[in-house]
This record gives sequence, structure tokens and C-alpha cells, in this order.
Amino acid sequence: MRGHDLLTIADLSIEEVRDILDIAQAQKSGDQPYEGALSGKSVAMVFEKPSLRTRVSFERAVRRLGADGLYLSPPEVGMGEREPAKDVARVLSRYCDAIVCRTFGQDVLNELAQYATVPVINALSDWEHPCQALADLLTIREHGGAAGRNLAYVGDGNNVIRSLLLAATSEGLKVRIASPPDHALDAPTLEDAAKRAAATGGEVHTMIDPVEAVAGADFVYTDVWTSMGQEAQAALRREEFGVYQLTLDLVAQANPGAKIMHDLPAHRGEEITDDAIESDASIIFDQAENRMHAQQAVLWRLLR
Ligand code: CP
Ligand code: NVA
Repeated sequence: MRGHDLLTIADLSIEEVRDILDIAQAQKSGDQPYEGALSGKSVAMVFEKPSLRTRVSFERAVRRLGADGLYLSPPEVGMGEREPAKDVARVLSRYCDAIVCRTFGQDVLNELAQYATVPVINALSDWEHPCQALADLLTIREHGGAAGRNLAYVGDGNNVIRSLLLAATSEGLKVRIASPPDHALDAPTLEDAAKRAAATGGEVHTMIDPVEAVAGADFVYTDVWTSMGQEAQAALRREEFGVYQLTLDLVAQANPGAKIMHDLPAHRGEEITDDAIESDASIIFDQAENRMHAQQAVLWRLLR
């Protein structure tokens, strides 16, 4: 990890990704005690966008570790408007033992980390969603394992797949991504993922055709077409992404027994159909549960 922060999966080595997942598995199964490990500590949680899973799972993870969480909602802090991120970082560092932050630009997180004297954890930015990816890889481990298995992602080349690709290739998954040409992942992320894949036996393939991506897949994943902050582009995006909908027909092109994944919240009827979410193949709510276990492992590793 870069210093003591979790700003991106790109900052984590392959070993660090695996170590966090190992801790999460050990604590979830009861093999590693964690109760009270962070007794007396406090975690500030600054959210500049809405959240259900991230907010509640962090609050629960903090409490399970015996620490206190302080939630600061979108209108309260006004980072960059009421005061600069560098001042927020220094003030919160005087009261708290970590700063969890959900924001827009990755630059805000970098500024927080530069000025904070306590760990900073990315709870989603426009660039990455590292906590989601760790929960997703924990879920994949629980549903048959990661190494050598095939993960297909169809849709926007956004924060969720950027983190997911880097975490998945760290775990040895073979990843196939289908996105419209104007919404593909950036070259540096693909290069980083290819390096990880070369070291772990994974693979990275990008394409345009969603049917080609899901062929041979054990896991089929999608995320929203319109992320938080992009609402003005929603109509255009519905047109651009129309053929990327995760349907049961699409999943039927994958391996028998393929699992359906989504980070939630889902826009049902856009990127995924209602019957896909409700299907027996869905492991979407396991992903949601694992947010708590993965973030507990991150907090335990950074703050203990
Ligand atoms: N997946 C996820 O981050 O959900 P929330 O936006 O509800 O936190
Ligand atoms: N890509 C989505 C993920 C939400 C959890 C967004 O950034 O809004």
C-alpha cells in the first residue's frame, strides 16, 4: 500500500490484495478474532455522494472492531467549497484515527492523503472503487475461487471495473471486458492489469461485443451506465449502452452455472434486467454483504 492509505487498487501490490482478502476470509469464518481490535479509535466518514452499502458497511465494520464512526453527509463538509481538502485532512487528523472519503475527483483523495497524518480510505471516487473490488473478489473466492476462472464485464469502463480488473488480475482471473469504444478503460490501467495477469496466470481481453465477452465466463458482471455525477448524460448513455444490458439470455451464453454480479444500486431495466437480479444465479447480495467483511479487513490492517 502507498504509505498507510487505501486510495486505489493500483496502489496495492498483488500480495497486498491477497493479504486483505485472506484477513477478510479469516475474520468472516471466525478463524481470526477481531472484536475490540480497534477499541478507542475513531473513523471519520466524509461522504460527498449518496450511499447505502458503503456507509452502512463501514459503520458496521468500525463498530465490530470496537471503534467509533462519525458520518459526515454530503452537505456538511463542503470539501473544496467551504474549505480546502488539505484543511479538512489536517483537522480530522487531530480528532480521528482514519478518514474514509467518498468524493468525485481522485485528486481530492490525493490531497487528503498528502495532508492527513492518519490513513485515508477511498470509499468511491470517479476513478476507482477499491473497497467494492475487494468485496467482489472475496465473493468470487467464496463461489468457487478466483485463479484461472473467467470473469466477464459488460458496460461502462468506469470506477468499478477499473478497480475490479486490477483486483481480479491480482487474483489470477481471466477477465474479458466489453464496452462501447468511447467508454473503454484507459491504457495505463489495462497495462497495469496485464502485468498483474502475467504474474498470476490471469488474462486481460477487451472487446466491443458483449456476447463475445461472456463466452466461457464463470462470472458475468455489470455496473450502471450512468454513474453518480453523470446524470445529465443519462439519456445519451441509454442509447450508447443499449446492447450491453445484462439479461438472462446473455448469461445463457456463458458457462453453465455462471454467476451474475452487480455492485448495486442497480438501474433495473437499464444495465441489468429484474429477472437477472432475482435469478438463482445472482450473487449480488453476497457481494453487498462482503463489503462489510472486506472493509473490516482494510481497517484492521491499516489501524491496528
Ligand atoms: N456499491 C456501493 O458502493 O453502493 P452504495 O453507493 O450504496 O454505497
Ligand atoms: N459506477 C457507480 C458505482 C456506484 C456504487 C457510480 O460511481 O455511481
